[in-house]
Amino acid sequence: MDIRFQNASGGEWRAECALVFLTKEMELAKAAPALASACPWLEISPALRDATGKKDERLLLYGHPDLALPRVLASGLGKAEDCTMSVFRDTVAKAVEYCRGRSYASLALPVDVLDSLAPVLKTTRETLVKEAVLSALLSLYRCEAYRSKKNGEEEGNVTPPDPRSLTLLFAETETPESARLAAREGEAEAAGVKLAQDCSNGPANLVTPSALAETARRIAKVHGFSCSVMGPEEIRDAGMGAFWAVARGAKEEPRFIVLDSRPKGKEDSAPLVLVGKGITFDTGGISLKPAAKMHEMKGDMGGAAAVLGFFEALGNMPDTENLPRVVGIIPSTENMPGGNATRPGDVVTTHSGKTVEILNTDAEGRLVLCDALSYAQKTYNPLVLVDIATLTGACVIALGDYGTGLFTEDRELRKTLLDAAETCGDLFWPLPLWNEYDKNLKSDLADLANIGPREGGSINAALFLRRFIEKGTRWAHLDIAGPGYVVKASPLHPVPGGTGVGVRVFCELARHFAR
Ligand code: BES
Ligand code: MN
Ligand code: ZN
Repeated sequence: MDIRFQNASGGEWRAECALVFLTKEMELAKAAPALASACPWLEISPALRDATGKKDERLLLYGHPDLALPRVLASGLGKAEDCTMSVFRDTVAKAVEYCRGRSYASLALPVDVLDSLAPVLKTTRETLVKEAVLSALLSLYRCEAYRSKKNGEEEGNVTPPDPRSLTLLFAETETPESARLAAREGEAEAAGVKLAQDCSNGPANLVTPSALAETARRIAKVHGFSCSVMGPEEIRDAGMGAFWAVARGAKEEPRFIVLDSRPKGKEDSAPLVLVGKGITFDTGGISLKPAAKMHEMKGDMGGAAAVLGFFEALGNMPDTENLPRVVGIIPSTENMPGGNATRPGDVVTTHSGKTVEILNTDAEGRLVLCDALSYAQKTYNPLVLVDIATLTGACVIALGDYGTGLFTEDRELRKTLLDAAETCGDLFWPLPLWNEYDKNLKSDLADLANIGPREGGSINAALFLRRFIEKGTRWAHLDIAGPGYVVKASPLHPVPGGTGVGVRVFCELARHFAR
């Protein structure tokens, strides 16, 4: 769906359906004065009087079929005091999906509706433009690449195509640049989220470590980033013994992927470094997982997907001039059992030199991450280091399907990430890095063990990673085991599976460190 712009001086506003959003306190004619004057028929439309603004109410108002703007879809947002940004996003998404179901090819959004809503949501017109564009685009996400018959070909399963365009209608005589940029930002972030969703939803026989590397190379080529990829020999030669311990059991070759944005004038400056867990399938290895739901472990590269999605968003961003250098690092492999796989009890030497006793091969995420974190600190001098991983089932027990566990001892970074998550509508919650629990990782044989007790499992995992963080490094760890991959569809994520969580937060984070 294209995002277009039209202003008052551009002649008649034209679209098959205009979208308006109303709280209970708002009246359509007053909330959208410019639309009301463009559609004088609204005034005499009987349905107009039925619009109450009740949450989830949808009313379709019809003018004469020959008019340039013959329909208005009014969606209710509920009471103003209960209307949050997340209600707004969901309502936009549902309205667009509704129009898609009715095969409307061209939609319009009168921006004066957003101007009326801005004070209600305590935000700006620009933010609402961005969020509306993003929500509209995310509501149309589909993953149909793996069906033999394309959209609509199958009898009885005729999926209408996406609307071709969403036109933002401005009462001003010219489209304001700030609104145009906001819309472009929404488009850029949607492109990043969708790429991450595609990665997570793709099956593990196709989304292999090499496929992720190809995706990284393609993103780099299209947007002018640099990209380097290590294969099995280079990974072993680099001394990444923990990463290798996971990779050695798989026939599918591992990849260590590095993306580097290198903006002009900041080519060698201290970068924001993002590390994403890229386990393309997690069987558990010799510590094999039970069969039930094992297929969901194709989503164990949700961290990698977030990093790739972020770079796709960055490449599409309209205004990147002040953004910092960003480096993305993805250690990617399958975690498989087999004759060459790591045995429980094996001891390996990590990239840092520390030795690890691998008591459970299913705690593989921390093994690939610890080497990536050491490599990141040795190779770059990170401004800030953030890792993102579908790391522990315990985090899903603690925070549920939608909560991201945030671990950091850096108060400022914690606030920055919590604020960023709130801005994006993501549910982040701080979890502790208690020194008292560090002894949980004691090994009888090596410097540390890769598991602790079941209790406090997410904390034990985070503390394992902290053992590889050097003094002075500003570091945060995001456990997205819950929200990385969800089995229920929602308006903003209409396909069950990958959500692209992390992509938008990383965009916010990059903007935070701008200039
Ligand atoms: N990828 C899993 C964690 C996971 C579980 C992600 C459920 C998403 C949904 C991770 O590699 C794992 O297996 N963790 C183990 C750690 C344990 C062996 C210490 C777990 O959580 O059970
Ligand atoms: Mn595992
Ligand atoms: Zn895993």
